[in-house]
Amino acid sequence: MAKWLDNAIFYEIYPQSFLDTNGDGIGDFQGIIEKLDYIKELGCNAIWMNPCFASPFGDAGYDVADYYQAAPRYGTNADLKRLFNEVHKRNMHILLDLVPGHTSVAHPWFKESCKADRNEFTDRYIWTDSTWGQLENMGSLCGISEREGSVIVNFFAHQPALNYGFYKKTQDWQQDPDDPGPKATLAEMENVMRFWIGMGCDGFRVDMAGSLVKNDEDSKGNIALWRKVRAFLDAEFPEAVLVSEWGEPDKSLQGGFHMDFLLHFGPSHYNDLFRCEEPFFSGRGKGDVAAFVEKYKENYEKAQRKGLICIPSGNHDMDRLARSIHGEELKVAFAFLLSMPGAPFLYYGDEIGMRYVENLHSVEGGYGRTGSRSPMQWDHTTNAGFSAAPKEKLYVKQDEATDRPTVEAQMADPDSLYHEIQKLINIRQAHSALQSRGEIEFVYAEADQYPLAYLRSDDKEKILIIINPADREVSFDGDYAVKEALYTFGGEAAFAGGKVTVPGGSAGFYLL
Ligand code: NOJ
Repeated sequence: MAKWLDNAIFYEIYPQSFLDTNGDGIGDFQGIIEKLDYIKELGCNAIWMNPCFASPFGDAGYDVADYYQAAPRYGTNADLKRLFNEVHKRNMHILLDLVPGHTSVAHPWFKESCKADRNEFTDRYIWTDSTWGQLENMGSLCGISEREGSVIVNFFAHQPALNYGFYKKTQDWQQDPDDPGPKATLAEMENVMRFWIGMGCDGFRVDMAGSLVKNDEDSKGNIALWRKVRAFLDAEFPEAVLVSEWGEPDKSLQGGFHMDFLLHFGPSHYNDLFRCEEPFFSGRGKGDVAAFVEKYKENYEKAQRKGLICIPSGNHDMDRLARSIHGEELKVAFAFLLSMPGAPFLYYGDEIGMRYVENLHSVEGGYGRTGSRSPMQWDHTTNAGFSAAPKEKLYVKQDEATDRPTVEAQMADPDSLYHEIQKLINIRQAHSALQSRGEIEFVYAEADQYPLAYLRSDDKEKILIIINPADREVSFDGDYAVKEALYTFGGEAAFAGGKVTVPGGSAGFYLL
């Protein structure tokens, strides 16, 4: 099922900032349609698009006001359907962003739920029985309802938590996942999925997937909930794909998700690679990849053939990759990202090394994340080709640097990051061992040492990957008979006398 995941390479689109075709300063569905060929040419064959539903945009659309309606700023439901069709015409796939955990306070369900008289939505959200007093482990909002009680919130104070029940109940007001309220919430969320899959999307990236059922220390309640969802999908839409924002593949994949991310939060040590004081991928060579690899191996063992562990280049919640690693370092980082198992996820603009825009005022709940959400830089024309609107009207301010990277300039330069990524994707797509389900075995990943080396293999071939971000030559013990260097950047490794010697700032894929 969902065979296409075997060689999927995702491109994440933040619709606000991709391409504005109607001059209002904000991106739209038509803009995405116009750039599908660009995405395909880069080599990506799948898209994850951030939330695009009706919303007051207090959290960039992660505060939904109507799950069944596209946000007018991006276009109509018919335009969205057209986007799905255009994606499929190109043999590509698209996942929408489902936010099942909470809505906006502006959602009509919430307004009904605030009423004192019992109605269909009374139990749609998690309400306590008293307006007074603080809760220990959960954020809550009170003083805005006619009914007595506080409502639990999930993220910002304007995002009340939908009610999927409590795994362990410690208070009278907490409901069981099998009580009528939580069951009705889940049934409605299944309707939402039914609606959009029916319209033609291929599945969903699921926001905060591991936290729907509350008081669920070992995630058993959430795993059980997602198994029910998978059973519903298997019965009605067996091809529908789900990727979780959970950050713990050992758990999420048990819940039936096809894929989970390693993220900047959670136990994965993802930050050790790209986003810490001494990232492994910095040329300074003071990083440490060992803890990441240990955790990866643990997840990999547990996930064996159950699902994919996906390592994103970044996303709309974390600093741009190019904030802490630069220039040629980025190429080495992508050689790693595009040679690991699981489906790679490229955050829009990372393929040209777009920078984190410093010192921006928060836009639509972005706060520190705003600098990673600036409009795409296409070319040398006004607003880097993103929009014809006056500069002041752009959704987020653009990188003003005169040497800001653009797609146009990088396409024209054969040595650019864009071309390196395109090349890496082509190599990945020509070798099944390098794709989502090829096996991985780490051969060198020592604490405080460089390089990182691993084998990727399937029943057809075996490929040794050597990644050395450090600016110095390094070596490790190993005896390999190399048939062919499939890819090298920064020089070739030397194999002699049971030793592999690796040039500084290099990456290589060697067919054994
Ligand atoms: C995770 C999303 O990626 C983030 O952007 C959002 O603010 C929170 N979930 C809340 O929905």
